[in-house]
Amino acid sequence: MILDLGINFAGIKLKNPVLTASGTFGYGYEVGDLISLKKLGGIITKTITLENRLGNVQPRIAEVSSGLLNSIGLQNIGIKAFVEGPLFKLNKIGVPIIVSIAGNTTEEYIKIVKILTMQIGISAIELNLSCPNLKKKIICHDVFLMQDIIRNVKKISKVPIIAKLSPLVTDIAELALFAQEAGSDGVTLANTYPAMAINVKTFKPKLSSVRGGLSGACIKPMSLRCVYDAYQNINIPIIGCGGITNGGDAVEFMLSGATAISVGSASLISPKNLIKIIDEIKDIMYRKNIVSIKEIIGFVNTKNAC
Ligand SMILES: Cc1cc2nc3c(=O)[nH]c(=O)nc-3n(C[C@H](O)[C@H](O)[C@H](O)COP(=O)(O)O)c2cc1C
Repeated sequence: MILDLGINFAGIKLKNPVLTASGTFGYGYEVGDLISLKKLGGIITKTITLENRLGNVQPRIAEVSSGLLNSIGLQNIGIKAFVEGPLFKLNKIGVPIIVSIAGNTTEEYIKIVKILTMQIGISAIELNLSCPNLKKKIICHDVFLMQDIIRNVKKISKVPIIAKLSPLVTDIAELALFAQEAGSDGVTLANTYPAMAINVKTFKPKLSSVRGGLSGACIKPMSLRCVYDAYQNINIPIIGCGGITNGGDAVEFMLSGATAISVGSASLISPKNLIKIIDEIKDIMYRKNIVSIKEIIGFVNTKNAC
């Protein structure tokens, strides 16, 4: 049986639906010694900002039950250094490259996108509108600002725009619809969940910034629900993200409506998990007699639960 794992995400052809999630895979090329990057559906880079950022002070990562708490604070080298260095190396891999970006204002997003439109080898831009680890408000919590950013970058971008949203909202389906109405070509659902942890030996928070973003296996059911709800309300494709650690998780996200999926914490634990997830998706397709992975998108049978 020949299995077709190919999908089309907002016009981008991916040979399989498995992407790296932003920020857990470096700029993307560094991991090339550990796994064959060519096997991936695509790479989403860590978030790049206009100027370089040192990120938050240490400690900024802590393990919690079945998950990870981080407050990296968007450490990165800035857009100019990114296009002069990492982007060049990423282009040699031969898979679609999605560049994740963030700014403080609409103008900053516009400036970054203007620089990216002058480059070759970028398949899409993911707008990080949901970082919980900065001192200011999460951008997508201000719907007017979120829509202003999407509308303005859409006017100048030559590649699809994907809005990455926060799961910490009252109605994710409505927020995803607002992103679609502003012109987003796709959405990533979702980023981490604002959370915290305390060291009971010292009575101090485990992260220097006190709060951080919760990721990993423990968030999967909540992120899955985000995808399911949004899928009912929008007609742009979804990248499902949150707690995916195996092929079964990836299939669950696709059944709930995701066209592609991105893997964060599990790839941080071992980049080999990405390849394992691709292989496990194939196993499930084989066992369920599914020829094309596209068949399962949004195909959860909600008539009978078990
Ligand atoms: C250490 C770390 C750094 C992250 N950095 C970013 C980032 O730069 N930009 C972003 O959009 N998301 C970032 N995220 C969030 C992930 O991309 C992903 O949305 C989240 O971790 C949920 O997926 P997971 O449970 O598979 O890790 C980061 C997550 C972790 C754990």
